[in-house]
Amino acid sequence: MTRLFFCTASVLAFSTAIATAAEIKMGYALAEDSHYGAGARAFEETLRAELGDAFTVRHFPSSGLGGEREVIEGLQLGTVEATIASSGTLSNFVPEVGVFDIPFLFRDLHHARTVLDGPIGQEMLAKFDGAGLHGLVWGEQGFRHITNNRNPVAAPGDMAGLKIRTMENPVHLRAFEALGAAPTPMAWPEVIPALEQGAIDGQENPLSVIVSANLNEVQKYLSVDGHVYSSAILLLSPKLWNSLDDAQKEAFQKAGAAAAAAMRGYVDTVEADGIEELRNRGMEVNILTPEEKLVFQEQLAATYEGYQAQFGKELMDSIIATQ
Ligand code: PAF
Repeated sequence: MTRLFFCTASVLAFSTAIATAAEIKMGYALAEDSHYGAGARAFEETLRAELGDAFTVRHFPSSGLGGEREVIEGLQLGTVEATIASSGTLSNFVPEVGVFDIPFLFRDLHHARTVLDGPIGQEMLAKFDGAGLHGLVWGEQGFRHITNNRNPVAAPGDMAGLKIRTMENPVHLRAFEALGAAPTPMAWPEVIPALEQGAIDGQENPLSVIVSANLNEVQKYLSVDGHVYSSAILLLSPKLWNSLDDAQKEAFQKAGAAAAAAMRGYVDTVEADGIEELRNRGMEVNILTPEEKLVFQEQLAATYEGYQAQFGKELMDSIIATQ
């Protein structure tokens, strides 16, 4: 009788545990050993430390749930619970966020992190609630550089007619048009096959991506110009976020902070050793001097007026003034 009682009790406890452990499907575009994978793991580990087995995180790396835009739409529909994504398609959901994609707006990683963690970044994050999404935290990819198979790029003229893939992001598209390239917006899962087939000459991404996605296997030249800072974001579905109580929300916030710290840690490391690593893997690397970068900035000056009209001069000035 006693044995029967304990058996029934443990079956009940087990099924309650199963019933209450909610699965968080987390999709991201890059491999598990990338900065996104590092962020996703830190998120999962912190959530477990804070809330035990109440939630399980199921990873879908390497675009396992589709391109970034599709995954974000999945969050809106409630079919996916979480993602770490680039700023690539974000302005399709919250147009104002495109301000962070303006070339040469951020001076360095410290500047970008201070803006994103401060009032400007946090107000921007809150806007996702009005777009059927919940922005938990800003993560990071680093500054974007150009890779291609045609020639090194040290001046805008080197990009004349260069078929370069950009993210599906109007701010980036406008900048590459102004530089005389032939930009082609494309979802990330199509990029490596397009480079292999020669349908495009090049692409642009931070060292974190170039190293972790082994772009050296399909690209010859790396031109380190740091033309734009690439943030990342950890987004949740409102269906998940709104189901949490206050204590759980606090734990998710801690898990988000751990994810951001892990991504930034990865970026710091790859910024320090990524160029050497890519040289060792056979890429031909040129690093633009401040004078060479200035020529790019001057060529983009006309686009800044358009950005001021779109995003507001005041906002751009306060980003620039942030120390
Ligand atoms: O270039 C992109 O689309 C993004 O930087 C990537 C590689 C998908 C990471 O979010």
